Amino acid sequence: MHDFAVSTADKPALYRDLLAALDALTAGEPDPVANMANAAAAIFQYLPDLNWAGFYRLVGGELVLGPFQGKVACIRIALGTGVCGTAAAARATQRVDDVHAFPGHIACDAASRSELVVPLIAPESEGGRVIGVLDLDSPTPARFDAADQRGCEALAALLATRLFTMP
Ligand code: SME
Repeated sequence: MHDFAVSTADKPALYRDLLAALDALTAGEPDPVANMANAAAAIFQYLPDLNWAGFYRLVGGELVLGPFQGKVACIRIALGTGVCGTAAAARATQRVDDVHAFPGHIACDAASRSELVVPLIAPESEGGRVIGVLDLDSPTPARFDAADQRGCEALAALLATRLFTMP
């Protein structure tokens, strides 16, 4: 059993500890599905106020659902479509305070009100390509602030180094 000491004192401490937990969980494990599955579980367990946390992988030019925690989700998302497809196409984090105001937002869980999507970009040594996205949804409007964005971008940067072999 893994029992990580993840501080909830403040966001920098929370993300520091969550990063260390993801590092420990994925170090030395080359299987990207196993790493995405445990990362989704740890993120969903330790970040408060989420209703969905998981991955879409860039496969054959479109995003395809990967390991996640939460309700059943849409399987394929075209690049440039929705919050996830926009993050992947732009290679830039999308932080959306009100998903109902985001043009083309794809509603998987009707409870979702805000969303943070961070692209996973392979290391330069692996071509620097977008390999997928980390997607977090919350039932609370404006759940994600700049500290969450910084923290999740750090998580995504670590995970990208552990997932670049994924198809
Ligand atoms: N809302 C996303 C779709 C994925 S679900 O939130 C799990 C989007 O607009 O891309």
